[in-house]
Amino acid sequence: MRLKSKDVISAADLTKKEVEAILKESDVMLDHLQKKKPLEVLKGKILATLFFESSTRTRLSFESAMTRLGGSVIGFSGTAGTSLKKGETLQDTMRNIEKYADAIVMRNPVEGSARLAARTISIPLINGGDGSNQHPTQALLDLFTIKRERGLKKLNVALCGDLKYGRTVHSLIYLLYMFGMNVTLVSPRSLMMPEYIVDDIEERYGKRPGFKEKLQDVVPWADVLYVTRIQRERFPDPNEYEKVAGSYFVDKRLLDKARKGMVILHPLPRVDEIKTEVDDTPYAKYFEQSFYGISVRMALLNMLLGGK
Ligand code: CP
Repeated sequence: MRLKSKDVISAADLTKKEVEAILKESDVMLDHLQKKKPLEVLKGKILATLFFESSTRTRLSFESAMTRLGGSVIGFSGTAGTSLKKGETLQDTMRNIEKYADAIVMRNPVEGSARLAARTISIPLINGGDGSNQHPTQALLDLFTIKRERGLKKLNVALCGDLKYGRTVHSLIYLLYMFGMNVTLVSPRSLMMPEYIVDDIEERYGKRPGFKEKLQDVVPWADVLYVTRIQRERFPDPNEYEKVAGSYFVDKRLLDKARKGMVILHPLPRVDEIKTEVDDTPYAKYFEQSFYGISVRMALLNMLLGGK
């Protein structure tokens, strides 16, 4: 199945049919990965990974995915060695790189930059995160992890942490409602989910998520505990960060009242919001989640670049 748009900019742009097709294709890719079957479906295709902002998982898993599909990768990580340093605009950069590659994955600190870049070029652009706005491929791999670990049924999902600046939850919430999940938001008051997203969810799905301030209030209820770090780099005022730093964390004690089969997810990197003692509990699935990212990104690249 081809996606209706040439680009993947926001989770809210995707239809349920498209998401289902991506998840199905991700299962196929996961099988290839696990059986270590080499694929050549994107042989001759080039992916450009343009990371204006730091990344470990998104950039490397896209590069791994493209390589495992038989394609190749060019790109940069940080702008230090690029002509952006000489004052070149994002649009001019894009116009050049679209001649060097068949698709682009871009991460940029400016909200809306992915949509702007996509409008400038005719090859597919995948948003690898634009500021606090959106991170759609992370949401797809989060949903894929939920599907693999719990199945896509009416689950209770708690989105926890920095819901104001965290772009992964701004994307994931759309997919959770798309698949009929119950969502509760858990955050300090100063880091609540932006009202424009909650309003948009209500308009699309006729529901508003619940709200709690403490993790303790949702642990006995949750099937999925999705934890995020406080996005320190996005705070305009460091004093505001200090007021909430360390204000919530998951440790073994918190999990005493967890439901059987609950899964803890985290987009990573973590700082201190999940203690390492949780890693060896049956609840911790965040490293599996990161691994699933390769198969989801393989699926997306294959669907966008027509390898199939
Ligand atoms: N989850 C995620 O986006 O991780 P990176 O910032 O390492 O890419």
